[in-house]
Amino acid sequence: MSNERALVGVIMGSTSDADVMKGCTETLKELAIPYEAKVISAHRTPEQAQDYASSAAGRGLQVIIAGAGWAAHLAGFMAAHTNLPVIGIPIDSSPLKGMDSLLSTVQMPPGIPVATVSIGKGGAKNAAVLAGEILALKFPTIAERLKAYREKLTKEVLEKGQGLNL
Ligand code: RP5
Repeated sequence: MSNERALVGVIMGSTSDADVMKGCTETLKELAIPYEAKVISAHRTPEQAQDYASSAAGRGLQVIIAGAGWAAHLAGFMAAHTNLPVIGIPIDSSPLKGMDSLLSTVQMPPGIPVATVSIGKGGAKNAAVLAGEILALKFPTIAERLKAYREKLTKEVLEKGQGLNL
């Protein structure tokens, strides 16, 4: 997004994950957080995946968000090759509807964590908000935007609730 230097690296295992991952990139845009988005696979492009993770901090990225389906190793693979915080999004692209990717993303052995969000588009949105919360510790403008984002959510719920007629 934009020509600002990316703070968040958004990666996904396949172009078939793009629709779910839009939930993430749209929320990053809403929060005006500069990001880059790429397709990288732990299985199909392992060398590129390793290069991406190893070079991420040096390129100025502060957080990596990785979405993948099936036996989803992408987020764990990233975490193995960088000390940056890694957020994993389990994608519901398999016959097991994401339960496989949830477990393969969340069940990291001790020492190498992946902060795992819920399966699918809702999780993808939360990954962006969580990345924003990490960045807000360092960037006060992002903290302000997150505050406004929450206020907007509160206002929307209250307004919708007023229209309820049971
Ligand atoms: C995973 O396999 C990807 O993250 C995707 O969710 C899934 C299927 O990929 P395609 O066969 O659609 O490329 O690695």
